[in-house]
Amino acid sequence: MDKFNPKMKKIARKRAPNVLIDILPTPIFSMLFLLHINQIATYLFLSDKETLNISVNTKQGGADTCAGRYVYMHNLPSRFNDDLIKNCEAYIELRNKCKYLVNSGFGPRILEDDYNHTTQVLTIETGSWYSTNQFMLEVIFREKMRHYECLTNDSSLSSAVFVPFYAGFDVRRFWGYSVKLRDELGEDLAQWLRKRSEWKKMNGRDHFFVTGRVGRDFRRATDQDSDWGNKLMRLPEFENITMLSIETNSWSNEFAVPYPTCFHPKSRTEVKRWQRQVRMTKRRHLYSFAGAKRPQIKVSIRGEIIRQCLASQERCKFLDCNNQSRDCSDPVKVMEVFRDSVFCVQPPGDTPTRRSTFDSILAGCIPVLFTPDSVYNQYNWYFPKDHTKYSVYIPEKDVKNGKVSIEKLLASISEGRILKMRNEVKKIIPKIIYTKPGEVGPEKIEDAFEIAVARVLDRVQDMPPN
Ligand SMILES: *[C@@H]1O[C@H](CO)[C@@H](O)[C@H](O)[C@H]1NC(C)=O
Ligand SMILES: *[C@@H]1O[C@H](CO)[C@@H](O)[C@H](O)[C@H]1NC(C)=O
Ligand SMILES: *[C@@H]1O[C@H](CO)[C@@H](O)[C@H](O)[C@H]1NC(C)=O
Ligand SMILES: *[C@@H]1O[C@H](CO)[C@@H](O)[C@H](O)[C@H]1NC(C)=O
Repeated sequence: MDKFNPKMKKIARKRAPNVLIDILPTPIFSMLFLLHINQIATYLFLSDKETLNISVNTKQGGADTCAGRYVYMHNLPSRFNDDLIKNCEAYIELRNKCKYLVNSGFGPRILEDDYNHTTQVLTIETGSWYSTNQFMLEVIFREKMRHYECLTNDSSLSSAVFVPFYAGFDVRRFWGYSVKLRDELGEDLAQWLRKRSEWKKMNGRDHFFVTGRVGRDFRRATDQDSDWGNKLMRLPEFENITMLSIETNSWSNEFAVPYPTCFHPKSRTEVKRWQRQVRMTKRRHLYSFAGAKRPQIKVSIRGEIIRQCLASQERCKFLDCNNQSRDCSDPVKVMEVFRDSVFCVQPPGDTPTRRSTFDSILAGCIPVLFTPDSVYNQYNWYFPKDHTKYSVYIPEKDVKNGKVSIEKLLASISEGRILKMRNEVKKIIPKIIYTKPGEVGPEKIEDAFEIAVARVLDRVQDMPPN
């Protein structure tokens, strides 16, 4: 059974009471199947709606393990997705992202030959490491949805409707252009959606989409050209749609999901092997920071963090993201540093969240956070409620006014507590990665995608009727 996320199984069962078979061992499953007992079960346990699902599934053979989990994906005109990336090179603002679109948004694969030292750092023999760009989630998620085990092309069966819109590519390509241009495609999509028969069922409240950018890019407050982003999420239709993004600042119909990291394993075995490595590795640095100063942001604590890190000498490793060597955008270098550190400091940058936080989790490096908005207020579907279990919290203002020595504070944490926290961090790894699509059976992982879809389905199920 699912060791990584027992909660998820419980939810699946709650939603699919007819799936008796789900909780029975395989031999019994086969026996029941041979006896066609699922037909009898139909009469014994099911409401009308569920009977419908079963009748579809009898064709596929066996009971319906997808009951209540079916998702319908809209077949959008290509202007809402494929055209945006097909014309990637044509938009100045997108150009430096185009090379990351390969492998369904995972980016170029990291090859052993690329780095002499790679094999020691990454479990490269599995071929599961990619140069993944932090803003590719909408492309990755769509590909994952194409392989979702309960995808249906019959929308009357579905409990949720996925809208494969590349909202982030849309908003990014028109950075600095007129608000009219920025809003156009979103308004077009809103009209397209509300004309579909799927809209009528719940006025779009069972619809969801995913963006690889931060939520505030879609919540422009005024119609002045100088204002930030577009107003997608302020359109009446999108107020009914659930948005999943890498960072949210609106907690009504928007939920934060993990940034994609560079690790996209296929199997549970691979993840376990990686977790073992992460646990066993000797860590030379007490803490590390990968980032750059934000001199233009007055309240930024990054300057102070870098100052302290350099003063800590070999106890702190600073990976300078302003450095010409571009080590910071080299996933192997980043993982190397994080795997060699007990703690990874994750101060806010342009926004409170960072992809780097997920890199550090992946490397088994305990994150040090400075504002609740970096993780605690964001990724509630993914992290333990008690944040002291997996992270260290230092209030931003204590760093700002020089009250805290990061080195002293971290050095005072006992070895026992460190081991406990690292163990917790290790347990989070499978939940925050986006695995290679298509795996089924016991090697399948309840990854970030599976968790997101399950929670969206919960959310729709809990909604009051129209
Ligand atoms: C790998 O090592 C070889 C010889 O040791 C060297 O010639 C080559 O430049 C190295 N490649 C990289 C990418 O560092
Ligand atoms: C759904 O997909 C199946 C299998 O690909 C196909 O046979 C069927 O015609 C499709 N149904 C609809 C309504 O598109
Ligand atoms: C959004 O949902 C509410 C509640 O079902 C409904 O009254 C409203 O008309 C919907 N908005 C749109 C644009 O469909
Ligand atoms: C940039 O990185 C290289 C290699 O890690 C290092 O030797 C150099 O000192 C760094 N330069 C700056 C300005 O930090």
